[in-house]
Amino acid sequence: MEENVLKRFRLDGKKAFVTGASGLIGYHTAKAFAQAGADVAIVDIPQKLEKSQQIADEFKKEYGVNTLAYGVDVTDEQGVTEMCEYIAKEFGTIDVVHNNAGIGGSPIPDLDVDYSWWKHVQEVNLGGIFLVARAAARIMVRDGHGGSIVNTASMCASIVNAAPLGVTFDNSAYSVSKAGVKHFTRHFATQMIPYGIRVNCISPGYVLSDMHSDMSKEVTDFFAQRSPCQRTGKVEEMQGAVLYLASNASTFCVGTELIVDGGHVCY
Ligand SMILES: NC(=O)c1ccc[n+]([C@@H]2O[C@H](COP(=O)([O-])OP(=O)(O)OC[C@H]3O[C@@H](n4cnc5c(N)ncnc54)[C@H](O)[C@@H]3O)[C@@H](O)[C@H]2O)c1
Repeated sequence: MEENVLKRFRLDGKKAFVTGASGLIGYHTAKAFAQAGADVAIVDIPQKLEKSQQIADEFKKEYGVNTLAYGVDVTDEQGVTEMCEYIAKEFGTIDVVHNNAGIGGSPIPDLDVDYSWWKHVQEVNLGGIFLVARAAARIMVRDGHGGSIVNTASMCASIVNAAPLGVTFDNSAYSVSKAGVKHFTRHFATQMIPYGIRVNCISPGYVLSDMHSDMSKEVTDFFAQRSPCQRTGKVEEMQGAVLYLASNASTFCVGTELIVDGGHVCY
C-alpha cells in the first residue's frame, strides 16, 4: 500500500551528517534531520569543535537521537576519509549527507583578485564537496544500502551577481565554484544511482549569515530589492528543501538542483 507522504519525509533510524553544521544553514538542516528522527553528526572545522559539540548535545537532548561532533577541514582528503569512517563506526553506517560547508567570495573584481584566493575558494567550495561526497559514497557502496547526498550549491551557480549601487562586486571565484558543485552533482548522480545513492543539490538565494558579515546594510538591502519577494531568505526556509532531497519523499530526484531563492534567478 502507498505510504503516507508525510511519513516519506521521515528519517527514522537513518544515519546522517552535515558539514558546515556549526554555521547558519548547516545548523538548521542538521536540526531538521534530528527532528525527522535521524542520528546526526555535526561536522565543521576543528576550530569550531566545541560549538559543534554543544549543538550535538542540544539535538540529543531535544530530539532523543544519537549525535556526535567531529572537527575536520573538508579540503583534507585523509581527514575527510577518517571522518566518514569514524561516523560509520559510531552510528553503524551513513545513509544521508548534507554536504554543505563552504566559504563566501570577496568583493574584489577579477582584474585585481589574488589568484591564491581564487584557487582557495575552488578548493573549499568545490574540492571539499567532491571529497566529502566521494568518501561518504564509498561507505554507502561498501555497506550496500544506497543513500542520499545533498550538496549545497547556490543561485550564483546560475547567475552573475548584480553589481550593487553601481559598484563592481565580487570576483568569479564563488560563482564558478558553485557552478562546479551544480555540475558535479549531475555528474556524480549518474555514477551513483546504480548503487541506489541519489545525489542532488540545493541552491539557496541570500540567507544572511556570517558569510555576509562584511556586507553593508545598503548592499544587503539592494540584494533584497532585486528579488521578486523583496526580501532575503530565512534560514528555516532551507530546511524543507534539504529534508525533501534527503528523504524518500524525493526518490525520483536524481542530479536535481532545487533553487530556493524567492525567485531571484527569475529576473
Ligand atoms: N547564506 C547564503 O546566502 C548562501 C547562499 C547560497 C549558498 N550558500 C552556501 O550555503 C553553505 C552554508 O553557508 P552559511 O550561509 O550557513 O554560512 P556560514 O558561514 O554560517 O556556515 C558555513 C560553515 O562552513 C564551515 N566551513 C568553512 N570552511 C570549511 C572547511 N574548509 N572545512 C569544514 N568546514 C568549513 C564554516 O566553519 C561554517 O560553520 C555554504 O556552502 C554557502 O556557500 C549560502
